[in-house]
Amino acid sequence: MASTDLQKFCDELRAKISIVDVISSKIKLVRKGREYMACCPFHNEKTPSFTVNEAKGFYHCFGCGAHGDIIKFEMEANGLSFIDAVEKLAHKVGMQLPKFNPESKEEAEKKATAYDIMEMAAKFFEKMLRLPAGREGLDYLYARGFDDTIIQKFRLGFAPGNNGLKAQLSSHGVSDKEMEELGLLTIPENNRPHDFFRNRVMIPIMDKRGRVIAFGGRVLDKSQPKYLNSPETPVFNKRRILYNLNYARDKGFEAKRLIICEGYMDVIAMDKYGIGYAVAPLGTALTEEQIQEAWKVVNEPICCFDGDLAGIRAAVRSVDRVLPILKPGYSLQYAFLPDKLDPDEFLRAKGTDEFLKIVTDTMPLKDLLWRKNLEGRLVATPEQKAKVEKDIKEEVAKITDETVRNYYIQEMKSKIYAELRPQLKFGKEKDDNRAVKYEKRSLIKTVRTDLDDLVAKYVISAFVCYPGLVEEYEEKLLNFAVKDTKLKGVYEKILEIIHDNPDIESEDELTAILDEILGQEAWRNMVDLRILKKQCPDIIKMRKELNERIIEVQLKQLEADIRDCKRILESGNFGDDDYLRFESLKKERDALINESDGF
Ligand code: UTP
Ligand code: MN
Repeated sequence: MASTDLQKFCDELRAKISIVDVISSKIKLVRKGREYMACCPFHNEKTPSFTVNEAKGFYHCFGCGAHGDIIKFEMEANGLSFIDAVEKLAHKVGMQLPKFNPESKEEAEKKATAYDIMEMAAKFFEKMLRLPAGREGLDYLYARGFDDTIIQKFRLGFAPGNNGLKAQLSSHGVSDKEMEELGLLTIPENNRPHDFFRNRVMIPIMDKRGRVIAFGGRVLDKSQPKYLNSPETPVFNKRRILYNLNYARDKGFEAKRLIICEGYMDVIAMDKYGIGYAVAPLGTALTEEQIQEAWKVVNEPICCFDGDLAGIRAAVRSVDRVLPILKPGYSLQYAFLPDKLDPDEFLRAKGTDEFLKIVTDTMPLKDLLWRKNLEGRLVATPEQKAKVEKDIKEEVAKITDETVRNYYIQEMKSKIYAELRPQLKFGKEKDDNRAVKYEKRSLIKTVRTDLDDLVAKYVISAFVCYPGLVEEYEEKLLNFAVKDTKLKGVYEKILEIIHDNPDIESEDELTAILDEILGQEAWRNMVDLRILKKQCPDIIKMRKELNERIIEVQLKQLEADIRDCKRILESGNFGDDDYLRFESLKKERDALINESDGF
């Protein structure tokens, strides 16, 4: 739309929305004659010099000179861009921001057709679901408890296996090239083009305005990959998009709550149970851009990741993402589901009320940051404590906002002082109820086994040779700590790369990325890929070798634990717990020995 149209639109907003409403949702206003007064939110002051004039529709601060209307206020107080501020206000009063395209006409037109094509595809998939060819898909959705209302709302569909979409789009004059560009068609070099999505239940991904921009497709059986997502296209930017934001935004404003979970099925399941304010990233770890998007809805979105180790890992990684972009008033909260359940499973097992309890009783970011640095660490000696303190300081230094950083420094200092006392009993402090509670939920395993450098090198080399092993071993290896910081750096980088690019399967691809990110010198001399590849020419052999080494380390650690435990028992000064632990350690050891006999 032209800029005059935008001006008109903004005028309409100013006329419809009370500035007192907007500002008093942020700060407390007191009426003084014809105006409202408050302490200025834009500078520090003790006596109010910030005024709001409802009739004129602006605010003015006599202290710092801050001045503006509702749009300016949204921008300044919430760190929004102009368009985002306008959009947020428009939403408040149920108005739709008209199309506003700063790009060239040509580009805009091309995008317009892209949206049309994606819409045609979505309609096609929806139709297929209701035809005999899609029966299997419909049965699958029904079996998962999704009824027709949910299917219609989320526009779920089915992609047949016979290149039906290509035929359909061709008949509407869409070229193969256009389909390919939108990730709907695969054109192999020496073969005939075929539909990208085949025999899958289709979940359209919508942008904030409800336009279809991509798809996720789920297999009906146990085959892999479970989900296939559209690649990046001119209309689909994976890093930005949060699934379901188009619906969740309104519901989120209303409920003053936004849940970020791991997958689209969880989002849909939550909606079915009356929780309409859930969103999810799309097959990748939560990005900074997505956190910023979520912050436009609420100040503290709740990350509700699965209760399994992968979910905990995702939570921990989101801490790294959010620290550099923290700003006053904005953060993340964390909710962990018990028993390795995901939201979908939890809701089915326990219902909405229990679920709401969990997303209400959340863990603040600061606590997760703390635990992230303490989990599985020994903090008995001054040197060990100093290391923990140093690590936490380094993490906190990643916060770029000075005010927030200073509060974190204070908070962490007092926590270090209070909790790293002579004998650290994490989670057992009487006065720290929360810690006890988290411990019971057994968030992250507290006991970790050190992986000695040789084995760590071996694991890293194996991962580089066969990137397909990473996913398989990641969870197994969560209980192991890589001691050497350099090795640890490389190890964690590999996990991160595979997380963000789950399709990487070849050594060449992974080495190229590692070279790019870390530089050749930083990692190549740590590993000897050639020798390893010779010893283990295929992934099966590699798996066997890896298993043997891991079990060896586990056994060593178990033997040491058993010895310690025995010593306690022999000292005579022991509780029931110690005895139980002794028994369970022995059981674990025997099980491991059995497992290793299998090779
Ligand atoms: P999950 O494996 O936890 O799937 O992946 P889910 O949501 O519980 O799915 P159901 O219940 O088995 O159907 C979480 C999210 O990770 C992405 C998807 O976005 C999924 O929703 N994912 C997972 C992929 O993109 N590709 C995959 O192969 C697997
Ligand atoms: Mn699930």
